[in-house]
Amino acid sequence: MAKNLEDLEDKNTKVIVRVSPVSEGDLEEVYQIELECFGRDAYPKLVFNYLLRNPRSIFLKATIDNILVGFIAGLCHRDECLLYTLNVKKDFRRMGIGSILLEALEKKALELNMKKIVLQVEVTNSPAVNLYLKKGYSITRMIKNYYGYRRDAYEACKLL
Ligand SMILES: CC(C)(COP(=O)(O)OP(=O)(O)OC[C@H]1O[C@@H](n2cnc3c(N)ncnc32)[C@H](O)[C@@H]1OP(=O)(O)O)[C@@H](O)C(=O)NCCC(=O)NCCS
Repeated sequence: MAKNLEDLEDKNTKVIVRVSPVSEGDLEEVYQIELECFGRDAYPKLVFNYLLRNPRSIFLKATIDNILVGFIAGLCHRDECLLYTLNVKKDFRRMGIGSILLEALEKKALELNMKKIVLQVEVTNSPAVNLYLKKGYSITRMIKNYYGYRRDAYEACKLL
C-alpha cells in the first residue's frame, strides 16, 4: 500500500473508507461530484486543476471499493488552512464519510504546521453546518450576501 494512504473504518456501518490524495485521473469524477452537489454554484474545473498542482493544497478523496464517493480540498496560507469544498455523493451520505474526510484534512493541515481551519458555509446548509459544529468548529461571524443576494454565509473555524 502507498505510504500516504489511510484506511479508516466508519464505526457505524463497518464500511471501509479509504482516504488518499486526489490524482490527475480523478479530476473528471471529482468535478462531476462537485456538479452533483452544487449545480450552478459548482467551482469551475480549472479550480480543481489549480488545487491539484498547488503545493500548498490538501486535496483528498474518499473511496469505497475503489469507487470515489467524496472529496475535500483546502489551501494552506501562513498558519491557516482555508477549506474550499467538501462533497459526498448523495447515495453515500450520512455514513460518516464527510466526517472522515474532514478529520483527514485536519490531520494533514496539522502536519503542515497549520494552526487552524477556516471555512465559509451557507447558513441554510444544515447538513454542513451541523457537521462542522459536531466536529468542533465555532461560528465566528456571518457574511451577508456571500453567495449572492440574500444568501448569507457563516464563517467558522477550528483551532488545531
Ligand atoms: C455536508 C456533507 C459533506 C456531509 O457529508 P456526510 O458524509 O453525509 O456527513 P456525515 O455522515 O459525516 O455526518 C456527520 C454529521 O453531520 C450532520 N449531518 C450530516 N448530514 C445531515 C443532514 N442531512 N441533516 C442534518 N444533519 C446532518 C449530523 O450531525 C451528522 O452526524 P449524525 O449522523 O451522527 O447525526 C454532505 O451532505 C454533502 O456533500 N453535501 C453537499 C455538499 C455540501 O454542502 N458541502 C459542504 C460545503 S461547505
